[in-house]
Amino acid sequence: MSPSTSSRVALVTGANRGLGRALAQALAAQGLHVVVTARTYDDADRTAAELRAEGRGLAVSGRQLDVTDPASVVRAFADTAYEHGRLDVLVNNAAVALDRTRTVTEADLEIVQATMDTNVLGVWRCCAEAVPVMRENGYGRILNVTSHMGSLTGMGSTSPAYRISKAALNAYTLALAAEVEGEGILVNAASPGLAATRLAYGSATQSAQEAARDMLWLALLPDNGPRGGLFHGTQPLAP
Ligand SMILES: NC(=O)c1ccc[n+]([C@@H]2O[C@H](COP(=O)([O-])OP(=O)(O)OC[C@H]3O[C@@H](n4cnc5c(N)ncnc54)[C@H](OP(=O)(O)O)[C@@H]3O)[C@@H](O)[C@H]2O)c1
Repeated sequence: MSPSTSSRVALVTGANRGLGRALAQALAAQGLHVVVTARTYDDADRTAAELRAEGRGLAVSGRQLDVTDPASVVRAFADTAYEHGRLDVLVNNAAVALDRTRTVTEADLEIVQATMDTNVLGVWRCCAEAVPVMRENGYGRILNVTSHMGSLTGMGSTSPAYRISKAALNAYTLALAAEVEGEGILVNAASPGLAATRLAYGSATQSAQEAARDMLWLALLPDNGPRGGLFHGTQPLAP
């Protein structure tokens, strides 16, 4: 059975700006305790302090978490579990898009490797730490932030590392969802569409807050909610 909203603890990666910050704020506004994480201690602490100041009474704390650093990932999840005794929601938001000007044949494989390390292995590392804690309580919601660019249907050739990393993330989402079926842990992915953040390079159609609001439901699903789904808003995203 779902724990009450106010007793739930959520952790958001890459929460110091963009969609991660907006998602963290939206979750805290729902009454959850939100652990905002960022690559640096300063960004994590500053963002948590800002969110607490913006919304009176919001329960927000900051932790350093670099998804490419295994020690940092282990420490952030262990400290969260130690402090709160639980982890109910994980939002895997952190990502990089480094090869906008490249094509498949012109790809720089060091950039491909760095992109995979953050966008795919980073999520894998975080879930490896989060799932055992969720299993202890028989409850978990994992939201992986994907992109329309990762859909195999209509795959394009620009930004190849980013596209292929998000396609791999979609596959990872389905595989993990299948493994934890029946354990109270619902794993899904959502694409925000184009949102006004640094990553979108000015081509946005909505604010980060609007995009976050449309994805939030997947972090707050009832026990009979979907699992192993790819979404844009509440609509299925082409696989
Ligand atoms: N904006 C869009 O239109 C759009 C469209 C489709 C999908 N998305 C997805 O939405 C998510 C959020 O993107 P955004 O638009 O908000 O981009 P953003 O403004 O560039 O934010 C990316 C966040 O990820 C963090 N990050 C990068 N590498 C990290 C690492 N190794 N460890 C921890 N954090 C790391 C960044 O931290 P630093 O500040 O330290 O760099 C930043 O907080 C991503 O998964 C992205 O693929 C966005």
